[in-house]
Amino acid sequence: MTQIKPQVQYREDYQPPHYWIDTLDLDIQLHENATEVVAISRVRRNGEHDEPLVLDGEQLNLLQVAVNGVDITQYQQTENSLILSQLPEVFVLTIKTQLDPQANTALEGLYKSGSAFCTQCEAQGFRRITYYLDRPDVLARFSTRITADATAYPYLLSNGNRIDQGNLDDGRHWVQWQDPFPKPAYLFALVAGNFDVLRDSYTTVSGREVALEIFVDQGNLHRAGHAMDSLKASMAWDEQRCHLEYDLDIYMIVAVDFFNMGAMENKGLNVFNAKFVLADPHTATDSDYLDVERVIGHEYFHNWTGNRVTCRDWFQLSLKEGLTVFRDQEFSSDLGSRTVNRIQNVRMMRGAQFAEDAGPMAHPIRPDAVIEMNNFYTVTVYEKGSEVIRMLHTLLGEQAFQRGLALYLQRFDGQAATCDDFVAAMSEASGRDLTRFTRWYSQAGTPVLTVTDEYDAVQQRYTLTVQQFTPTTPGQPQKLPLHIPLSVALYSAQGEPLTLTMDGQIVGPVLDVLEAEQRFVLDQVPSKPTPALLQSFSAPVKLDYPYSDEQLTLLAKHSIDEFVRWDAVQMLINKAVRDNVSQLQRQQPVVVPRPLLDVFRATLEDETLDKALQAQMLMLPDIGSLLELFEQVDIDLLGQVHAQLHKELAVALQPLWLHAYEHNRTPQYSIAHPDIAKRAIKNVALSYLALANEAGLVQQQYQTADNMTDTLAAMKAAVRAELTEAGALLADFEGKWQQDGLVLDNWFRLQATAPGDDTVARIQQLMTHPTFSLNNPNRVRAVVGAFIMGNPLQFHRLDGAGYDLLVSVLTQLNLSNPQVASRLITPLIQFARLDDARQQQIKARLQQLMALPDLSRDLFEKISKALA
Ligand code: TRP
Ligand code: ZN
Repeated sequence: MTQIKPQVQYREDYQPPHYWIDTLDLDIQLHENATEVVAISRVRRNGEHDEPLVLDGEQLNLLQVAVNGVDITQYQQTENSLILSQLPEVFVLTIKTQLDPQANTALEGLYKSGSAFCTQCEAQGFRRITYYLDRPDVLARFSTRITADATAYPYLLSNGNRIDQGNLDDGRHWVQWQDPFPKPAYLFALVAGNFDVLRDSYTTVSGREVALEIFVDQGNLHRAGHAMDSLKASMAWDEQRCHLEYDLDIYMIVAVDFFNMGAMENKGLNVFNAKFVLADPHTATDSDYLDVERVIGHEYFHNWTGNRVTCRDWFQLSLKEGLTVFRDQEFSSDLGSRTVNRIQNVRMMRGAQFAEDAGPMAHPIRPDAVIEMNNFYTVTVYEKGSEVIRMLHTLLGEQAFQRGLALYLQRFDGQAATCDDFVAAMSEASGRDLTRFTRWYSQAGTPVLTVTDEYDAVQQRYTLTVQQFTPTTPGQPQKLPLHIPLSVALYSAQGEPLTLTMDGQIVGPVLDVLEAEQRFVLDQVPSKPTPALLQSFSAPVKLDYPYSDEQLTLLAKHSIDEFVRWDAVQMLINKAVRDNVSQLQRQQPVVVPRPLLDVFRATLEDETLDKALQAQMLMLPDIGSLLELFEQVDIDLLGQVHAQLHKELAVALQPLWLHAYEHNRTPQYSIAHPDIAKRAIKNVALSYLALANEAGLVQQQYQTADNMTDTLAAMKAAVRAELTEAGALLADFEGKWQQDGLVLDNWFRLQATAPGDDTVARIQQLMTHPTFSLNNPNRVRAVVGAFIMGNPLQFHRLDGAGYDLLVSVLTQLNLSNPQVASRLITPLIQFARLDDARQQQIKARLQQLMALPDLSRDLFEKISKALA
């Protein structure tokens, strides 16, 4: 909190530290309200200078400072630092501080999650534990001694290996940990509590035995098996695909209930939001299972991409996050459906990332200026960052990419690196010039690729003209051309793929778009083809090509690239939405265009189609993503079109939905991928059947389901279709699960995203539910997050009730948990696509928030940009 205007930090201003810290010995006496930390570090001056040592520290009570064992008092203290001058070249620094974990609702640094102590140090939480050089380019060897009450905290955990332990007379005990790998402070972790432990082991390729331990709340052991399987699968995948082996003798994962994000890759001791660990058929859905696998993989893969090689400064965050997201996406794709993974990633890009690029917080994957680092754990840094890595993979191919990754890791092992270092290694290992490619790191915004074509029947020549244009973003008025891999295929009128030939040579599918405008002449093309453009979403761009309905229908049926089949349907849907919004503006009824209806029918009738892909092809995008199709639009009109299209498709194809429903039942629950696919298509069918008033089926599924996927799908179908049965199902569900916050989150989410004019009142009601607490981020996301992100029609009510609700929540969270508050403000700052009336309403609310007496840096950064 601060009254003065928060400071901006610039990437350009990076300076190496004035001092290094080689070792840090922590001695932590845990107490709920007054934990004492003694930090002894060996400090070494970096070069010849007489600059002071400026240590970061926040909300600490300083008790003692000593240099080489001698107490000193001539230090300077500011609100967030401790400054020591006239220091020897090498010395031992002892600092004793006191802090209050129980009062820590921000969940950064050391805090209580339920009855356990735990830490979260990324990005800058370690400075809430002791005064330190809290920056990722200072790497030290840590040892940690933890002392706590033995009964309440039988397990005392930290990074590395447990080297000693003992009991004390006063009922307390201690454990000594040592981490052999030098690390930045953000990778430090400590956990103390009473848990059930799932133990297993893994033998690495080189034959080393690694102990695996998963710590969960007591009584939850039976829900930890899938996390363990996922961990072992991650270890095997990294060995096979990337030749990377684990490096410690122990790997621990702790599941906690109070956590700001998904999980954290602390060296040897991951801390997880319990939501990404616990899973069993009765409590977790198929997508929960897949999320556990993905997040366990993500944190495990960080051990190399993030921990062994870390970031020089926080502007380089995408160096570890973009790369690690790419790795977890490949892991999920190798284990499951590559196409469905690709589709889901693209939905995220087009829904959330393109919106971020179009809003006031638009930033390159490597930002240039930051007020609060926590604000830059974004879809741009993570998901677009991964797309940038994927483009490198597409340009270089698997082998050269793996050579580049190996070179990068070997060259920077044990060090802090930059994005430029990474690209240089990729370029060296492949021999490719990536100079222009590096612009993806510095330029924000979503490029638009405008493609036109021309067929010369006499010469049998087909010419694609590609123009690229990136709209301006705040602070970047001028944009330069990027290196864009454009993956292309051509199809004959019969849907046969054509060989790509240029200057008489067969060429691969990927065209290198480098210039603002570029032509590609393909020869030996026997007839006017249909182009499949941007196959597999080969670049994070918007594509503009004047496809006819016939061409889209052809691609939806015949494309060999399955992503293109899905994307062709998306384009037909987008056309239908645009046309119907204009229709509605002219008071004309909504109609499903014939080509769209035909493609849906053909998709439902295609027995050869992969069920998982079939399900994806038949789902309409949500209203939030459809907003991006317009410059500005009345969201109520969009909602009406969306609802009508659903309804019309439900009724027009009712027998086919019923057929799909009946033929994709799974006799017994298993999380095997073919079964996940069947449940997906069956439950898409059920959602349409509910809209066609097949209430009996919905009821029946709810009552007979033997797994959470089917239970929730039935309840969701009922709620979304506003069936009279919905209330009874919701009440039944609450009765069964009221003791289990994670399961009840589904119930919260469903009601928060329900249609109906009473939603705002219901949200207020839900916030008084006994399991709800503003201090638990999972509950806040399930109720408030789901409402503001997943219920745009009610959130953007013209009477402003949705906005008022959010303002009141933000006002409270601004003080207690600024990081969560800052994530929730997203839909209030991304107002560009909304009509003027709503924009006015939103701006008034932003002004109101801006005037809060203790506005956090997190909210300040976003609101000031939105109002600029
Ligand atoms: N490095 C974590 C990840 O990507 C991100 C993370 C977890 C985080 N908790 C956080 C970032 C708290 C900022 C604050 O897996
Ligand atoms: Zn990560």
